Parts: sequence; structure tokens; C-alpha cells
Amino acid sequence: MIKIQTFNKISDKGLNLFPTQYYQVSSDCTDPDAILLRSQSLHDMPLPNKLKAIARAGAGVNNIPVDKMTEFGIPVFNTPGANANAVKELVIASLILANRNICTGWHEALSLKGQDVPTQVETIKKQFTGTELQGKKLGIIGLGAIGVKVANAACLLGLDVIAFDPHITIKNAWQLSAKVEQASSMNAVLGQADFITLHIPYTKHTHHLIDENSLKQINPHSILLNFSRADIIDSTAVINALNNNQLSQYVTDFPTNELLNTANTLCLPHLGASTVEAEENCAIMAVNTLRRFLETGEIENSVNFPTVNMPYQGGVRFCIVNRNIPNMLGQISSTIASKELNIKDLINRSKKDIAYTLIDVEDANVDEALSLLKQIDGVINCRKLLPNDN
Ligand SMILES: NC(=O)c1ccc[n+]([C@@H]2O[C@H](COP(=O)([O-])OP(=O)(O)OC[C@H]3O[C@@H](n4cnc5c(N)ncnc54)[C@H](O)[C@@H]3O)[C@@H](O)[C@H]2O)c1
Repeated sequence: MIKIQTFNKISDKGLNLFPTQYYQVSSDCTDPDAILLRSQSLHDMPLPNKLKAIARAGAGVNNIPVDKMTEFGIPVFNTPGANANAVKELVIASLILANRNICTGWHEALSLKGQDVPTQVETIKKQFTGTELQGKKLGIIGLGAIGVKVANAACLLGLDVIAFDPHITIKNAWQLSAKVEQASSMNAVLGQADFITLHIPYTKHTHHLIDENSLKQINPHSILLNFSRADIIDSTAVINALNNNQLSQYVTDFPTNELLNTANTLCLPHLGASTVEAEENCAIMAVNTLRRFLETGEIENSVNFPTVNMPYQGGVRFCIVNRNIPNMLGQISSTIASKELNIKDLINRSKKDIAYTLIDVEDANVDEALSLLKQIDGVINCRKLLPNDN
């Protein structure tokens, strides 16, 4: 049985994809082969002995110690794009909520209870006059799965869009509306936009990317939206900018006590990906990715391992994780040859310091070869798939 430990509520639409005759899936399993989670932090958790993979049903992986997993040769998977539509819809909704002062107007309307409401609304409405999106400029930092969808939707709403992403993928570039203006730096976006939205991961490089200095580049009438992660923005600097009229409004999915006590903030309780559809899409993608890795050794959507595709014909396959250093492949293939195994197919890919090799061999002396492969200096871990394993 392959044991999967789950954390957080994972949609049954995904969990039901694990065939029960081969998989034992539970939240309290010991010594799991793989972990499937959403927001649970693994930073302080001891590493289970047999752990082979971690899959996050979501995009960000800052709740997982990815560098440590890489050292142990464990791939970390995520579900890029599976919740992008949900976030896009909330970003567009928030743009309209903030720009038309809908939340403050709504609060004020509620405070009229018991009064001559039809007359009073006509009196108070001028406090909440907004502006229209059409013809304004939206600045986007990060053109990944979410940023591209936000850009395209904003173009359809009549906004001009300027965006910055120095590492946009070819796939995302193909999907991006030709109307989007590409900026050469983040500051070029900040200086021109009426609304600024961030769609980047939280990493040590993006910690407080928006700080006191970058806020000085922003037009004072601008609205800043953060649906990425709390610490990409220095919230103390944002509060100061709001209080000093250097920023008009701040919309965030990551409230703090201080932000809740600051005027001109719109705080949402981390609702970005909270739709039934996004949770199902993420769970389905995470389970399919995990199963593919566990059952065939192939890798797709890993944040720390290379993508590796070699269709599995159901024979003997070695899945080898090794350091990305010279002569590893030579040692691996000569070890296999020393056990008189004939290599039928082989693929080797690398990503930064990690290399991953799949080798299909004729069925003989497999266990001896596996144990020798594990002893090669530089091999981090190695497992075999056998006919009828699944
Ligand atoms: N609010 C929510 O509930 C919610 C839901 C889903 C995702 N998110 C957050 O949104 C982030 C983005 O999600 P995604 O699916 O679009 O990710 P993605 O990986 O598809 O795209 C991220 C993009 O950011 C770009 N990037 C990285 N650093 C940058 C920088 N300094 N300047 C400009 N561009 C930069 C990358 O090149 C990449 O194209 C996630 O990492 C996650 O933290 C939040």
C-alpha cells in the first residue's frame, strides 16, 4: 500500500482519484510515502523516513521547506494555474469595490437603519463618488498564471495594462493579450499606474518588494492590491503611505490588526482561491501529479525538480535522484551494466543542483543493482518500479 498523509481539507474530487486497492489516504497516517496539503506549515515537522514527495494543492509553497526537501532528494509539487481564475475574479471584483467605494458606501447605508432611508441615501451618496476603470491604467507585477488572466480580463474591461515580469514563460507570453504594454522595470509600472496588483511568489527575493522606497514611486491617487502573500509588501510602510496621503487605498487578502485599524484599507480574509472550483481543480491536479510521480517516476509541476517525461511501459524502472555533478550518469550506467542489466531507455534532466534520471532495464538482478546505485557517491536516493507494482 502507498501511504498518503493529508493535511487540511482536500476536495474529495481529488482524493477519490487514489485507487483504494493501492493507496491508503488519511490525515493521521504514520510514515507516509507522500504528503498532500494546502496551507499546513511543514517547516518544523520532522521528515518522515519513507517520504518520497510532497504535493501542495495550490500555487505558493512557502509553507514547505523546499530547500531542505531538495537536499533530501524529495520533489515538491504544486498546482500552477489551478486556482488562477478564482484569484482573477476576486482581483477584478476588488478593483471595482475599491474604485467605486462600494464597501464604505455599503457600511454607511447600513448605518441608516431606522431613519428616512430613501432621503438619507440621496444625501450621503456624494461622499462615495468613485471613478470608472475604463481608460485607467492597471499595473501588474508578475505575469504568471494569475497575472496573465488579470491582464487579459482588465483589457476586456477597457483598462490600459502595463506589466513587468522579467521571467515570463513562453506559454504565458502566448496567452497574454497583445494590448498589454511590457515594462522594463517594476518602477516603470509603479510610476504610471492608477491601480497596481502583485501576482508573484513570496521568496527571499520578493520579501518587502514593496517598501517605503518603492511606495514613493507610486502616484498618490493609486490603489494597491495584494493577493499574493503578506510579506511581499511592508505593511508598516503601506500604513504610513496611506496616513500621509501617498497612497489612496490598499486592498489585501492578508489583513493584520494594524491594517484593520487603518482607514482606506479593504481587508479580505484570504479569499483569493476560496472557490469550490479552485479547491477541486487544485486537488485533482495535485493528486494526478503525485500519482504520476509515485507510479511512473515522471515529474511535472515540481518547484525544485526538473520536468521529466518518459512514458512508463510497466517494466523495471530505476528512479534516481543525484547531485548535478560530473560523471554521475557514467557511474550510474556502468553500475547497471556491472549487473548485466540491459538499458532499454534512459532520460536524465537537471535543475540547479539536482539531477533526476529514469532508467528502464531488462528484468534481472534488480535488487543488487538498486543497492549498488544507492552506494554511488552523489546519489541522494533511488527507488525501483516493478511490473505489477500498481
Ligand atoms: N490570495 C490567494 O488566495 C492566492 C491564491 C493563489 C495564489 N496566490 C499567490 O499568487 C502567487 C502567484 O500565483 P501564480 O499562479 O500566478 O504563480 P506563477 O508561478 O504562475 O507566476 C508567478 C510569476 O511571477 C513572476 N515573478 C517572480 N518574481 C517577480 C518579480 N520580482 N517581479 C516581477 N515578476 C516576478 C515569475 O516570473 C512568474 O511568471 C503565488 O505564488 C501565491 O503566493 C495567492
